[in-house]
Amino acid sequence: MLWDGRFSKDLNKKVVDFTNSIEIDKILYKYDIQGSLVHVKSMNKIGVINDEELKKINDALIKVLEEFEKNKFKFLEDDEDIHMAIERRLTELIGEVGKKLHTGRSRNDQVNLDVRMFVKDIIKHVEKKLDILIESLVNIAEKNKNIVMPGYTHLQQAQPVLFSHYILAYANKFLRNKKNFENACISADIYPLGAGALAGTPYNIDRLEAANFLGFSKISENSMDVISDRDFILDFLYASTSFAINCSRLAEDFIIYSSQEFGFFEMDDAYTTGSSIMPQKKNPDIMELIRGKSQRIIGSFNAFANLMKGLPMTYNRDMQDDKFYLLQVTKILEEFLEILPDALASTKFKADVMKNALDKGFLYATAIVDYLVKQNIPFREAHKITGNVVRFCIENKKTFTDLTLEAYKKFSPVFEDDIFSIFDANKIINEQLIHGSTSLKSIEKQILNLRKIVR
Ligand code: ARG
Repeated sequence: MLWDGRFSKDLNKKVVDFTNSIEIDKILYKYDIQGSLVHVKSMNKIGVINDEELKKINDALIKVLEEFEKNKFKFLEDDEDIHMAIERRLTELIGEVGKKLHTGRSRNDQVNLDVRMFVKDIIKHVEKKLDILIESLVNIAEKNKNIVMPGYTHLQQAQPVLFSHYILAYANKFLRNKKNFENACISADIYPLGAGALAGTPYNIDRLEAANFLGFSKISENSMDVISDRDFILDFLYASTSFAINCSRLAEDFIIYSSQEFGFFEMDDAYTTGSSIMPQKKNPDIMELIRGKSQRIIGSFNAFANLMKGLPMTYNRDMQDDKFYLLQVTKILEEFLEILPDALASTKFKADVMKNALDKGFLYATAIVDYLVKQNIPFREAHKITGNVVRFCIENKKTFTDLTLEAYKKFSPVFEDDIFSIFDANKIINEQLIHGSTSLKSIEKQILNLRKIVR
């Protein structure tokens, strides 16, 4: 053990196993080595490590990195975590000099640095993939720009909308998620080395320069704050949670809109699965798994928030579990981002079925209200009259277009022949002229703006 000086006995084997985190934190090897390379450079600059020692440590660290990259690094039972494993190997390679690496550093600021670098890298990757996802939604919107569909509230038909407007709603959600990830990146972008175990270090290293080498734009202002800080992980897990919720809702839409009852969407054969017993089935399993797995992300956020909330200042071993949640969430994010763009793009969006559903419903009710308001009927009154028309239609199993003008006049004398011209989804949609509405003009603007942003 690297710290066994104070101890008179060897560590109990069960304790070794229980405290060990190597299975998870080995993913940090690259960051740990990069951090160490910069740390020795800092120590060399202030004369704590001489040039010869610097070269030895550098060369050995590079060799260890190669061993990892070639899958040749051999872990020993005693390697409690990645930091100790690398230092142990370094000392095996270059002897006493290797023991100098940890001068002016604690595993507390070391692991802090590694995890920050890991999170920053993941976020950069996720952002790129999010762009691809958003772009695929924009492409779908553009390709199916003119399809009309019922828009829902309470899962009840509400107003006609363009399908493209619906799908771009998700592009906006994912764009917001991208901002959440950017935010998490800002939280992670604080260089912790120099904070030591918690109090700082007597070695006056150039922290700003070191931070710069590793792509950090800020250094920590308070060693106790940074050592105890895992807010950046919470920010990352929150960004992931928000994204997962949006993915899950999108998945739910695809599941329900692909059902026989709706029949609006048909997912591609390559992205659906069959049933072992019912030959007619075409199941949207991937969407169900997205809906299902998103709870693991939400659960991780919840679990990690709970893990942190009772911890006294500053570092506590409980925090070691941060990597468990990071890893679990990162894996699922990767899966979602990998599968979604193509699954969405290959889906057939059935214009005729969506249009049909719209004509059969009472989605033109709001348009009737607007028609009456234009004839100077107060809104509340117009709402009531239209409600009466709807009730009459339901009771008599009719649609708005089935009624004659005389029938309409029974509800209000202001109805004229032009009432029939409003039962036109495209017309109603294009009358929604305000910024951000469902009109075709608005869609075109949205597409243009989104394209500028994701490129
Ligand atoms: N494996 C530990 C972690 O991930 C490294 C830091 C250990 N520090 C300590 N003081 N025991 O949190």
